[in-house]
Amino acid sequence: MTRNPNAFLKEEYQDLVEKGFNWQLRTLEGPSAPVCKVDGKEVIMLCSNNYLNLSNHPKIKEASKRAIDSHGAGSGSVRAIAGNMDLHFEAERRLAKFKGTEATLIYQTGFAVNQGLIPQLVGKGDIIISDELNHGSIIDGVRLTKADRAVYAHSDMSELEKALQDADAKNYRRILVITDGVFSMDGDIAKGGDFVKLCQEYGAMSYIDDAHGEGVIGPDGRGMAAHFGVEGKLDVEMGTFSKAFGVVGGLVAGSQDLVNYAYNKSRSWLLSGSAPPATAAAQIAAIDVLETEPEHVQNLWKNTDYFKKEIQSMGFDTGNSETPITPVICGESHTAKELSNFLYDQGIFALPIVFPMVARDKARIRTMMNAGLTREHLDKALAAFEKGGKDLKIL
Ligand SMILES: Cc1ncc(COP(=O)(O)O)c(C=O)c1O
Repeated sequence: MTRNPNAFLKEEYQDLVEKGFNWQLRTLEGPSAPVCKVDGKEVIMLCSNNYLNLSNHPKIKEASKRAIDSHGAGSGSVRAIAGNMDLHFEAERRLAKFKGTEATLIYQTGFAVNQGLIPQLVGKGDIIISDELNHGSIIDGVRLTKADRAVYAHSDMSELEKALQDADAKNYRRILVITDGVFSMDGDIAKGGDFVKLCQEYGAMSYIDDAHGEGVIGPDGRGMAAHFGVEGKLDVEMGTFSKAFGVVGGLVAGSQDLVNYAYNKSRSWLLSGSAPPATAAAQIAAIDVLETEPEHVQNLWKNTDYFKKEIQSMGFDTGNSETPITPVICGESHTAKELSNFLYDQGIFALPIVFPMVARDKARIRTMMNAGLTREHLDKALAAFEKGGKDLKIL
């Protein structure tokens, strides 16, 4: 048989292009900042995860530079062999203090946490119960297990309870329940208090992916557990340094038992080179900034409240958003894309999210607030949304 081993690459890519599902990469020319240069044009940034603008914080940049001088550009190995530096342990100690947990473990990325840890927590004879809107990295982590799976309707705690009752009746060895803390497409917050309570009631392990809550919600941005007052009751608090902390790196916070288990078992941690010194030093400095400069989280929320109130009062549908992620729902995919293009022409960078990431008729511009934006920037963005919304008959 004659077989072209590579033909599918072009065919499938072209299919994506024809359906409008392909990613067209924009280029950031310079730092990710509240106002930055994208494809040669100066724009107000409304779609980065750099919520607190910490990636440009002088103390964090300085710490990174110093670490290159003192520790070099790379770590030389995986942590379990020869790549475990004092900076890595220091970052974990500082993070545990910040999170108020016994211990923490830092992975290369948040994706690596979900992919590496979830399959080690459950296996054959166990069950995972997952919110239907959980992030793709959780879905991939779940797919790597031999555990049974159940999915509950988004944030529906009575459905979760039914799934827990069912799992209990079937006598599974372990039950793991996972939810995003802040849902990244809608900006709503999981019902963290009830979630933890139900897990405790049924002897299930609770796991919250707090990628968009870390540095954003809870007192001083300490995340979901602090937000709901369930510190010490949540079994696995997962998060990332790639968003509000302005750096990169995944994290797990919980008991020392969890951390000992996680680093001995997660292959994504064991078999992947550790963070470069500049990254570990930036993580430490970012925690320092969060602990000593509460104004960043305060500004983020001040901007969020203003933008959300104004955009809602124009008549835009923002769904159930409760956080700095505010979706501006447009309807059909092409409308969201047209609005995004119009905004870019007006100097506002905010990307469309379309099917299959969200329902076909719920295409949206997903805006993400930044603590470094001024009232003038926000007013300019709001005026552009209003004009675009009217021109495209969304309003
Ligand atoms: C909910 C959620 N979990 C996990 C991740 C992965 O985090 P990281 O960027 O650190 O790999 C993301 C990032 O997009 C996310 O939004």
